[in-house]
Amino acid sequence: MKNGALHVANQAKYDEFYTQRSDIENELRHYKRHFRGKTVYCNCDDPRISNFFHYFSHNFDSLGLKKLVTTCYMSQCSDLFSQHDCERAIRLEYDGYRDGENVPKAEDIGISHLAGNGDFRSRECIDILKQADIVVTNPPFSLFREYVAQLVEHDKKFLVIGNMNAITYKEIFPLIRDNRLWLGRRPAGRDMLFDVPKAHVRELIETKKEGSAYRIVDGVVKRRLGNATWFTNLDHAKRQEEMILYKRYSPEEYPRYDNYAAINVNRLADIPADYDGAMGVPITFLDKYNPKQFEIIRFRKGDDDKDLSINGKCPYFRIIIRKKQSAT
Ligand SMILES: C[S@@+](CC[C@H](N)C(=O)[O-])C[C@H]1O[C@@H](n2cnc3c(N)ncnc32)[C@H](O)[C@@H]1O
Repeated sequence: MKNGALHVANQAKYDEFYTQRSDIENELRHYKRHFRGKTVYCNCDDPRISNFFHYFSHNFDSLGLKKLVTTCYMSQCSDLFSQHDCERAIRLEYDGYRDGENVPKAEDIGISHLAGNGDFRSRECIDILKQADIVVTNPPFSLFREYVAQLVEHDKKFLVIGNMNAITYKEIFPLIRDNRLWLGRRPAGRDMLFDVPKAHVRELIETKKEGSAYRIVDGVVKRRLGNATWFTNLDHAKRQEEMILYKRYSPEEYPRYDNYAAINVNRLADIPADYDGAMGVPITFLDKYNPKQFEIIRFRKGDDDKDLSINGKCPYFRIIIRKKQSAT
């Protein structure tokens, strides 16, 4: 295989992991109120294998959905890595009609071929996006920046899986700071397991360590990603919870950065209750972030645009926050 082709193949392989139904159910149950009367679009999903499609079609009535649209990407390397051997990209539309059955039958679902390859950036997929209210999926991590930028550009509500590292992207952090995107309900940093195509299962077993790269659950090999997390702009109850602060500020315990006017806090539990200035906190703060209690000011860098440092040493990445005046 030539280098270019190999690169494309690796790229496709990297993006081919499928979300488990249980992870979708566990997250989605916190957002039910947002879905009534809404059109949901899953734009990176082959309905034949996507648990997002299964979840929404099975819960169509209980969520009170108006319409479900799914489009499937015709992978350039589908013969190599994808479980789905799409020869053509398809569009699937379901508006809830079920002939007395609990689960929609194939004939209740409108399936049509797309003219193009189903790329979420293609004109026809953007036209579907424009008609949708909420986008829910696990998009290709390798295109996450572009993927989110498109949702924001079209002013869509969304709930999508991404890599926690995305918070460090220059395109993503400003959205977090400005409360246009936040973490979902599931605590970040917990393992998420994904199904993978058969070819990738073989490769995992032959080249990787069980426990770190993959786990075997009921005899099925699942890809483990410690960094996968949900990103959304749908409100959820955890975002309204206030952190209880009990520590007292002292200059000895909370050193100041060399290159930014803020104190350093090493553990979330140590955020001082009586300090009103800027503080640098670990990125796990985003799991506890309530915009009524705190504001986010900046990420990682000091005034000199270098990593925040204390006496020349850099603590792990910090987010600079400040308590809101109204917060207790
Ligand atoms: C991480 S997988 C997740 C699949 C599915 N959404 C799920 O959660 O099970 C991302 C999927 O996006 C597809 N994909 C890759 N590039 C795409 C593109 N440009 N447009 C739409 N889908 C794409 C991949 O083929 C892959 O199936």
